[in-house]
Amino acid sequence: MRVLVTGAAGFAGEAAVAALVAAGHAVRASDVAPIHATSDVEVVPGALTDASVVAEAVRGVDAVLHLAGGHWADAVDLRTSLEASVVATMLLYQAAAAAGIGRAVLMSSGAVVAGHPRGTWIDRGTPPAFEGPYPLAKWLQEEVARRFAAGAGGPSLCAPILRPWVVVDATTRRLRTGVPIDAVTDPVAHDGCFGWIDRHDLADACVRALEVPLQGAPVFPLMANPIGRALVDPGPAEQELGWRPRHDFSASIPSGWRMPDTWPVPLVTGDPA
Ligand SMILES: NC(=O)c1ccc[n+]([C@@H]2O[C@H](COP(=O)([O-])OP(=O)(O)OC[C@H]3O[C@@H](n4cnc5c(N)ncnc54)[C@H](O)[C@@H]3O)[C@@H](O)[C@H]2O)c1
Repeated sequence: MRVLVTGAAGFAGEAAVAALVAAGHAVRASDVAPIHATSDVEVVPGALTDASVVAEAVRGVDAVLHLAGGHWADAVDLRTSLEASVVATMLLYQAAAAAGIGRAVLMSSGAVVAGHPRGTWIDRGTPPAFEGPYPLAKWLQEEVARRFAAGAGGPSLCAPILRPWVVVDATTRRLRTGVPIDAVTDPVAHDGCFGWIDRHDLADACVRALEVPLQGAPVFPLMANPIGRALVDPGPAEQELGWRPRHDFSASIPSGWRMPDTWPVPLVTGDPA
């Protein structure tokens, strides 16, 4: 199929474009930043906050892989970041629905549930818990996807939602920012190994989320590490996408480290009184 990849110049985007081409799909890559892709990849440059860029990007594609997120560096203001993520997602899904495109996969983040105490059992139905503008924007992007999957704006899209925790490169052992992952030694710290996912394994999940039969806006938590898989339900990704990561970073769990016997803790919701 012909797939539009947004955020194609980014850390996850580069890997996703390569995986889609390898799987035999025709790729149209879009980003506001320069894209370094092979000559068989069509490029539509520009910002997704520009409706004319969005219209050109979605024209004639069968599916969308939406990886573009806002810029959250301290130097960029909140309004710009929210526009680049939430407004851009609304324009993109509106255009995709109006064009009758069948599927748009959203790259969300485990950040939308990262506010639950570490050790809490998290699955696709766990309510959101977060602080700060980045996870709020990811949650709002998800809400946009859910509205369009429910039929807002015309014919409904299938809108799968992927939630990786921390995307890394298993070969260079670095984060998107270039920071070495081995600098974090606590396996259950936010950037610790429990949540690491290799960007090429993430790309494989993206290809599957575009290809396998799905309906509505199903959420897929994506965890590779054994600790992460014991705390965050790997079932939907395994059973519905057929996804098993090649890299599980189990060697990064410090020897002798044991998960507390009380984990995973069930989520307590509502007022017990
Ligand atoms: N890196 C992680 O650890 C991580 C974890 C969970 C989720 N995610 C999500 O994965 C996605 C990809 O992240 P990444 O790590 O590749 O980030 P990245 O910053 O390397 O790539 C994002 C790309 O999107 C582009 N972009 C952003 N807003 C845009 C807009 N409005 N119009 C056009 N292009 C735009 C940027 O120029 C950039 O090239 C994001 O949605 C991010 O929220 C990342």
